[in-house]
Amino acid sequence: MTRQGTIGTGIGREAGKGNTGMNSEDIRKLEDLYVADTYARYDVVIARGAGVRCYDPEGKEYLDFTSGIGVNALGFCEPGWVRAVTEQAGKLQHTSNLFYTSPCSLAAEKMIRLSGMSNMFFCNSGAEANEGAIKTARKYSQLKYGTGDGGEPFDRYEIITLDGSFHGRTMATITATGQESFHKDFSPFLQGFAYAKANDADDLRAKLSDRTCAVMIEFVQGEGGVNDLDPAYVRTIADICATKDILLIADEVQTGVARTGEFMAYDHFDVKPDIVTAAKGMGGGLPIGAILFGERTKDVLKHGDHGSTYGGNPVVCAGADYVLSKIDGAFLSNVRKNGAYIKERLLAMDGVSDVSGKGLMIGAALADKKAGDVVRACIKNGLLILTAKDKLRLLPPLIIRRDEIDAGLDILERALKG
Ligand SMILES: Cc1ncc(COP(=O)(O)O)c(C=O)c1O
Repeated sequence: MTRQGTIGTGIGREAGKGNTGMNSEDIRKLEDLYVADTYARYDVVIARGAGVRCYDPEGKEYLDFTSGIGVNALGFCEPGWVRAVTEQAGKLQHTSNLFYTSPCSLAAEKMIRLSGMSNMFFCNSGAEANEGAIKTARKYSQLKYGTGDGGEPFDRYEIITLDGSFHGRTMATITATGQESFHKDFSPFLQGFAYAKANDADDLRAKLSDRTCAVMIEFVQGEGGVNDLDPAYVRTIADICATKDILLIADEVQTGVARTGEFMAYDHFDVKPDIVTAAKGMGGGLPIGAILFGERTKDVLKHGDHGSTYGGNPVVCAGADYVLSKIDGAFLSNVRKNGAYIKERLLAMDGVSDVSGKGLMIGAALADKKAGDVVRACIKNGLLILTAKDKLRLLPPLIIRRDEIDAGLDILERALKG
């Protein structure tokens, strides 16, 4: 039997040796050949990083305002985080959820203390956390309100999400996502989702029905364009949910774990969700997700209802425990101050028409340039930065210093002028 291999390319024959000695061209060539073409990638290879800077194999330096899309909360390879993860990898790498481990217990304790929620479930990604949140909401409702006789599995199952939202790439979470572009070509979708216009309380009220069991929101819509929810609108949602025993699900996958300058974005709004999902920044760079349950939902999922082979993995949890150990009042205040400073500088730039977001999750609307063109110009000049819809999106590591902010914003300012 013949198999296609790397022979034809003449590169990558030393399997298992990482990218040592490979140049950018070789790495790109192998990925283009063997990795499915689902991402529109930039022409950049990253070989190593430290703090807010990373480098390609030839040594070109980049300032990173992306954090791997909000993941590397402490920047690249923070020494204490590397130590925590590597020590754990050398001690115990995996056990399954049939057994207890200390990293899982410690990370969970910190998540619950910092979030004010009641208990939690570990998984591996944001979409997986949202899947579990959706299951929990349906089961809560089914247990409490029972099976209906309307020909449906049960009557109270519908989850309202918002236009412009993004909740993941699995079938349930693309169904939950309120953006048509993610739906095309993948029908049929799951039953039981309805979509309301963001920041429009009347539209939300119109979409509510006897079937509604939950409302699922991002307090700042990330992929949808760094769109802030109005405080009055959030208050209305929270009041409706409390009055009608509808669960409030906060998707904090991008906003959570200090990204917005509070531990969770709901802390800006003085509301208490019933279910919170987190992922991204929580692990500091390793795959993790979490479903946090409040008082109403903490006992809904029982033995056998839900699971995940890698959830609570000790190496990943050691990384998360380290990230969480760094978050205190001073850390959060620094995120808020640096975020306010970035917004101020952005607003003063020619070509930026508006800013949005909270803490170090920032959107910049552009007066006339295309966000993609600006990002490409920034990358050429050594700054990694993101888009969200037609805006620029800045998600720098939460430990970024003022001089690093200035260096990155100087590059952006030049790109906007060019
Ligand atoms: C708000 C939100 N929810 C869910 C997800 C999906 O997370 P993951 O890619 O880890 O599945 C994302 C990813 O960008 C997100 O921003």
